[in-house]
Amino acid sequence: MKKILCLFFSALMILSAAASLAESGALPSLREIYAEKFDIGTAVPRMIAANKSRMDFCATQFVIFTPENELKPDAVLDVTASRALAQEDDTAVAVRFDAAKPLLDYAKENGLKVHGHVLVWHSQTPDAFFHEGYAVSKPFVSREVMLARLENYIKAVMEYMDANYPGVIVSWDVLNEAVNDGSSNLRGSNWLKIIGQDYPARAFEYARKYAPEGTLLFYNDYNTAQEPKQTGIVNLLKTLIAEGNIDGYGFQMHHDADYPSNAQIENAVKRISALGLKLRVSELDVGIPNNSEASLQKQAKKYADIMRILDKYADQFIAVQVWGISDNVSWRSAKYPLLFDKAMNPKPAFWAVADPNGPGILPGLIVSSLYPGLTEQDEKRIIMHGHSNSLNQPGGDMPCSDTERTESC
Ligand code: GLA
Repeated sequence: MKKILCLFFSALMILSAAASLAESGALPSLREIYAEKFDIGTAVPRMIAANKSRMDFCATQFVIFTPENELKPDAVLDVTASRALAQEDDTAVAVRFDAAKPLLDYAKENGLKVHGHVLVWHSQTPDAFFHEGYAVSKPFVSREVMLARLENYIKAVMEYMDANYPGVIVSWDVLNEAVNDGSSNLRGSNWLKIIGQDYPARAFEYARKYAPEGTLLFYNDYNTAQEPKQTGIVNLLKTLIAEGNIDGYGFQMHHDADYPSNAQIENAVKRISALGLKLRVSELDVGIPNNSEASLQKQAKKYADIMRILDKYADQFIAVQVWGISDNVSWRSAKYPLLFDKAMNPKPAFWAVADPNGPGILPGLIVSSLYPGLTEQDEKRIIMHGHSNSLNQPGGDMPCSDTERTESC
């Protein structure tokens, strides 16, 4: 009887909370809920960053933003201009920032933070970067020229940001995904082939040299919960810590509701946290096979489980970012991985993040009239401008979540 009464009163409380939320036209704000623990954030592609009403909504929920593709080397390195400069000096590097401008401008105007992603990566980096005269038909440059290009690239990015957006970019992924899947070794990227084993250390050295004081420098990777990759990540972090230029580690966490297990996730967090670094969750999403109520509840539970694990290490986590806002604008859209549905209604996953120990979804709260979904035209424009599973993965070398990635990814 006591149990039934208890259930009745919780249901009543939930319903009245839903009514008052609906009346006030507001959702609970994730950024406010977590303000004392860590920054809550999201990735946004350019077309969302340029959509003021969508960004105004995002700013109520999130305090830190990652440009999804717009600060990757293929968006920043100006190959044509670099090729022209290379006629005089093969170490010269030309950069451009037009793709990232909408987000940087919005963040600057509205006092939001940006996490820079990414300076050095094997993927979404023009092949020409690695070749003499920036011509893919020519041989690879020497180690010396590549180091000079790396330094010049990082210098140009840092100087532009400091001059135009001082204080906006609070942290950077200096290096992304350098450790191979299924091994503890560095991935056989062009960076490794040309510079050698110390390329991660040199990237951090240059980033530290040119980053404005106080900018936090991160190594970012996926499949941290898997061995032997986890050991490779720990070994790499130790060499970087020894040189003194790294501030932290970013767990991507592209997970599924049933993989990896909570124990695997917690063990990975525990092991990396023991290195004493600052931590971030940089790209959180949780895939499910369909959007049935049962799957949505399973997904919500996984989000709650993850948030409860992170909470235990809240003194080391400085930020937790989801990798997108709504299911239809996600690189894993077939797996409904995010906190809001296509119509911008908060899913059970949203309520789970808002209150990982709480009762779950507030029934009947339909907020799509307050925060409408994208028009069909918007969606088409986003896809055409490079956001979709296939389109943001040049060469198809990275279209995998933690579950799906194999050595070949
Ligand atoms: C990786 C990268 C991200 C992005 C995702 C897919 O996790 O770090 O920049 O490309 O893949 O969106």
